[in-house]
Amino acid sequence: MSQENHQNYQPQHIAIIMDGNGRWAKKRFLPRFVGHQKGLKSVKRLVAHCSAQGIKALTLFAFSTENWRRPEDEVNKLMGLFLRALQKEVSKLNDNNVRLLIVGDRTAFNAEIQEHITIAESMTCNNTGLVLSIAANYGGRWDIVEAVKKWQLANPDRSVSELNERELSPYVALSELPEVDLLIRTGGEQRVSNFLIWQIAYAEFYFTEDLWPDFNEESIDKAIASFAQRERRFGKTSEQVAK
Ligand code: IPE
Ligand code: IPE
Ligand code: MG
Repeated sequence: MSQENHQNYQPQHIAIIMDGNGRWAKKRFLPRFVGHQKGLKSVKRLVAHCSAQGIKALTLFAFSTENWRRPEDEVNKLMGLFLRALQKEVSKLNDNNVRLLIVGDRTAFNAEIQEHITIAESMTCNNTGLVLSIAANYGGRWDIVEAVKKWQLANPDRSVSELNERELSPYVALSELPEVDLLIRTGGEQRVSNFLIWQIAYAEFYFTEDLWPDFNEESIDKAIASFAQRERRFGKTSEQVAK
């Protein structure tokens, strides 16, 4: 089925802005970090569910280039959670045939985290199931600037004035994956917050008030069902798409 033929079409690539951990904790008079811990549980459930549903790619926004602006204690705790998740979860993901990618500027992480990122990616690189990309210290603007730099490095004799979309796109993060079909944001905010900018050019957006720790299998099924109802026109008219 062509991607432009929409009804009942399952998204191949889902991207999620996992938001609302802090508010989830606040509502319960708990420290924000408990919300992040609960959020990791949602991640594990959703990864298993998407895998079972045959979704090809799932990309999760875990830490933005702007999140360094948070209080030092929260940033440190998030880094600790990231490291423990890498240490504890990767072999299980590997057993489930999941391929793990970490996108973002990893040079900002401490040596131990960087080492575990390398281990995680190389351990799972031949897996053929779900491709799980974790966006960590990721920014959409950073991604585009990096892509231009990489293009120039690969084409030292050419001028940037010759650059076009087709030539730049292989250097943008996640270019080896199908295009993002569905972008979900939990937590009630309706903004992109510098997540994938290039990659969501034609994604369908789905916003929900659910806070990330409450987002479960049923919630994502609802988002997928909403996606299946959308008519994706890719610039064409409705009549053309119906043909
Ligand atoms: C999202 O939840 C997780 C990260 C950004 C790491 P938040 O921590 O932003 O939760 P709220 O928006 O404060 O509720
Ligand atoms: C976006 O959430 C980043 C992640 C989910 C990792 P934020 O909570 O940081 O976004 P803003 O600051 O409300 O836009
Ligand atoms: Mg937030």
